[in-house]
Amino acid sequence: MRIKTVRFGLIGAGGIGQIRAQALKGLKDCLLTAITDVNKEQARAIAATFSTKIRLFDDYRQMLASDDVDAIIVSTPPQFHEQITVSALEAGKHVLCEKPLSNSVDACRRMVEASRTTGKTLATGFNHRYFPAIQFVKHTLDSGQIGELDHVRAFAGHTGLSEFKAPWMYDKQIMGGGALMDNGIHIIDLTRYLLGEVDEVFGIATCNIWKLDRAEDNGFALMRSPQGKTAVLHATWSEWKG
Ligand SMILES: NC(=O)c1ccc[n+]([C@@H]2O[C@H](COP(=O)([O-])OP(=O)(O)OC[C@H]3O[C@@H](n4cnc5c(N)ncnc54)[C@H](O)[C@@H]3O)[C@@H](O)[C@H]2O)c1
Repeated sequence: MRIKTVRFGLIGAGGIGQIRAQALKGLKDCLLTAITDVNKEQARAIAATFSTKIRLFDDYRQMLASDDVDAIIVSTPPQFHEQITVSALEAGKHVLCEKPLSNSVDACRRMVEASRTTGKTLATGFNHRYFPAIQFVKHTLDSGQIGELDHVRAFAGHTGLSEFKAPWMYDKQIMGGGALMDNGIHIIDLTRYLLGEVDEVFGIATCNIWKLDRAEDNGFALMRSPQGKTAVLHATWSEWKG
């Protein structure tokens, strides 16, 4: 069966948006056909690295109205994720929205609901699942080769504010949190991927190092699955990167 080529539009051509755009170049059956960014120079520069035709839009709403796009990648800062994603789903597009999906649980629920009612796919940018090392762990566990997983111990960290290129990246109002929303979100996702769903969570968030307003520089979580499997997670902005 011939698979239809999926035509992607990129909204937000910054750091991760550019990585997503370059990744599409290597994918069969996927094509980047449109870009929009409030920084038009940046959008133009990314489009110029493609040998295929890329349409540049002044505004994301114009892109959503276009029939030339089947799926959207939302890689703007998080405060725009909900509005853009819900509009895209309602315009009949599938969406890959960067993490964090949004900066509040309610907003995330509205986005998931929009995906359900429109029947369009909504995915989050949890790319760590696809790292070869994680795929190896997942396949090994699923094969039963090493027996049953008992618990997960996960760490994600970097040095903190010196790591960020813009203040919104550690602004609670925009990100919805601190280290746990920044890099901790990936190990939370990986824990659920490897351990299964969790239904009990205990946590502590501290702001002692960078002293930001409600954006924790260290977040500690203890989780348990309905089968009694445990995970202990630490996300930090006060250690070496890794
Ligand atoms: N999955 C990952 O591993 C990963 C890694 C880095 C960042 N991210 C996430 O990706 C998102 C973007 O982060 P980034 O590091 O690329 O930021 P960035 O600042 O480098 O890029 C954001 C881009 O969005 C553009 N933009 C802002 N508002 C817009 C709007 N309304 N319409 C169109 N364009 C708009 C900006 O001009 C900028 O070019 C964040 O949610 C971040 O948490 C995910």
